[in-house]
Amino acid sequence: MNIPTHHIDINQPDFIADPYAQLESLRNDMPVYHDAVWNKVFFTRHADISSLLKDKRLGRTMLHLYSREEIGWPPPDPRQTGFRSYQDNVFMDMEGKSHARIRSLVTKVFTPKRVESLRGRLEQTTHRLIDAVQADGKCNFVQAIAEPLPVVMIADLLGIPEEYHQHLRPWSSAIVKMYELGYTDEQTEAANRAASEFMEMIGGLAQERRAHPQDDLISDLVQVNEKGETLTEDELRATCIFLLNAGHEATVNGSSLGLRALFQNQGQLETMKEAVSQNNTSLLKTAIDEMLRYETPLPMFERYVLEDMDINGVALKRGSEVGLFYISGNRDSARFEQPDELVLSRQDNPLLTFGLGTHYCLGAPLARLELQVLFSVLFQRLPNIRAAGEAQFAKGFVIRGLENLPIEF
Ligand code: HEM
Repeated sequence: MNIPTHHIDINQPDFIADPYAQLESLRNDMPVYHDAVWNKVFFTRHADISSLLKDKRLGRTMLHLYSREEIGWPPPDPRQTGFRSYQDNVFMDMEGKSHARIRSLVTKVFTPKRVESLRGRLEQTTHRLIDAVQADGKCNFVQAIAEPLPVVMIADLLGIPEEYHQHLRPWSSAIVKMYELGYTDEQTEAANRAASEFMEMIGGLAQERRAHPQDDLISDLVQVNEKGETLTEDELRATCIFLLNAGHEATVNGSSLGLRALFQNQGQLETMKEAVSQNNTSLLKTAIDEMLRYETPLPMFERYVLEDMDINGVALKRGSEVGLFYISGNRDSARFEQPDELVLSRQDNPLLTFGLGTHYCLGAPLARLELQVLFSVLFQRLPNIRAAGEAQFAKGFVIRGLENLPIEF
């Protein structure tokens, strides 16, 4: 089958703010298309995306199977030195044995027990952030609450002392700019600087914890050993940084987009308040997943095609790239009843927000816990919370979120 061609400028502010109508018509009329500008084949349906995510013929890299020359990749961009020293050791962008080895070592220390042990500290931190703004009667939710909470939590989990906290968000923001489709020389330089400084800081802490282990993830990762397998120094540094970045960027956006969705659905806002006042944890759990389905903070991921293949009559060539619109699959009427409605009590909710398959989000339990605690404390403390103006989206689609969500209470 010939793949139709189409182009969406995903970085257009209108598309970032509301991509749903365009994606719906694609799901109906052109569920798979080739975009010559981004040079990718995009998929929009839930069924296609789910099956591709479980398909071993696709991967986040090809370098576990082929050399750069074999697949015709140019040498790594020499401008990206600092960023590369980090990125080349990020296990999310590995496949095969290296991915499995590092993921398994991280899973060994990033346990459900460790995640659950954060609950008290999460509640305390949320209260503290609300204390700081309560007397003002208003704030920008993103800056005052959504951003600092996951940063503090993941920094605490890793064991990063408070004096470094101010650097974490700027470093992380600079690094993740490299994942957008299209970035400038200036952004590349900023990412290099940020990655180098970040790697050095973690290296220093790792050295300290090697000598004096503490009850934190850096100490655990320094010591972790599974049948003789350990992390190399670069893997250790990159894994800590990656956990930090992955551990907050999407959570910030998930909570602010979620709150905005509640403001836009007053009936569901009331349902949420009721669930909190009655401590209805089962509703709170479905509500968090539903908010994450309704607005997808990480809307699109890519995969390389590792061998020539055919999917439902669509021929994909080895070395080509596919783009998977998780955000579109999450609104697919073939899989969800009333996909464009926010239904906090939704039970059958196979959301794609955390991915699927080998790279399924390792932090999903932490993200869910953070959002549960945040929304519980928020509605207990500020039961009259309401929107106080238009929300503003940040630039960029691949990491999609708000810059400003003005609230009153
Ligand atoms: C609402 C918040 C979050 C969302 C929406 C999210 C989403 C995702 C998605 C979609 C993937 C898979 C990427 C792919 O398919 O290529 C992923 C992977 C990952 N996430 Fe999350 N994430 C969130 C929070 C977190 C947190 C809190 C952490 C950890 C502290 C975390 C750690 C990871 C890791 C380590 C991976 C890589 C797994 C692998 O490659 O094996 N995430 N996340």
